[in-house]
Amino acid sequence: MLVFDHVQFYYRRGQSVLNEINFSIEQGEFVSVVGGNGSGKSTLAKLMNGLLVAKQGSVKLDSIEVSDPAYTPHIRQKIGLIFQNPEDQFITTNVTDEIVFGLENIRVPAEEMQERVDQALQVVGMTSFAQASPHELSGGQKQKIAIAAILAMRPKWIVFDEATSMLDPASRFELIQLMQSLHQRGITIIQITHHMDEVLVSERVLLLDQGCLIFDGRPDHFFKTLPLESYGLEAPFALRIHKRLDWRGELAADWKGRAASQWLNR
Ligand SMILES: Nc1ncnc2c1ncn2[C@@H]1O[C@H](COP(=O)(O)OP(=O)(O)OP(=O)(O)O)[C@@H](O)[C@H]1O
Ligand SMILES: [Mg+2]
Repeated sequence: MLVFDHVQFYYRRGQSVLNEINFSIEQGEFVSVVGGNGSGKSTLAKLMNGLLVAKQGSVKLDSIEVSDPAYTPHIRQKIGLIFQNPEDQFITTNVTDEIVFGLENIRVPAEEMQERVDQALQVVGMTSFAQASPHELSGGQKQKIAIAAILAMRPKWIVFDEATSMLDPASRFELIQLMQSLHQRGITIIQITHHMDEVLVSERVLLLDQGCLIFDGRPDHFFKTLPLESYGLEAPFALRIHKRLDWRGELAADWKGRAASQWLNR
């Protein structure tokens, strides 16, 4: 279980970025984190695996403080983070080395590495790029390698921070399907997204607004009860169409009513 307990965070003293954040996520959940630009979502993601350390409160994964340096390899293996900008994620000069680098950090035995690299590249459809250099890859291809590098570590938890933002519609759809199949295999998925359509595949939504957690609940409640536009969000396409059809339905009824009264009063 991942537990945020009274977490507060700032980059500059006096300019709070996250306030009084309390929630827990059970192993196996599929959670979306949403909110406008600058609401604190990426900061929250980095607190989840100890890349950032809470200024107050604690973040624990299965009772271990995620920022405890003694547990860094353990935490990195358990919870993988995929960022929105793949440019930020490369350290080595070759796709295979990039994946191996992550595996070395979590101390995977050398004889297991090749199999893990091959399998991870296959899952993201990038096998033919095993020897490519990262700067030869497009943004979307880099994103897929970053995802493969995390998958190769076989984490039980994966945080996708707008990981679909560089992907074309087909690849985006494939990644959502991959998240679903990982979830079905018991992996906890936490996805940060601006696409409300992607929220529909999750079981729970956390909404951040100016560093505060202001909603934690089911997607259907979220879409029914919250004024999405005031949080910089847009309803999912299906819901917008539904509303628009209702609106047109009302209009049609109104027009019929007026036509009927005109006919009666003729
Ligand atoms: N390294 C940093 N140093 C100083 N301030 C930062 C840093 N990173 C983020 N911030 C600030 O923290 C706040 C939250 O940023 P964060 O990146 O967590 O937002 P976000 O919800 O992920 O936004 P987006 O939707 O644009 O990705 C913003 O006001 C931002 O300016
Ligand atoms: Mg962000």
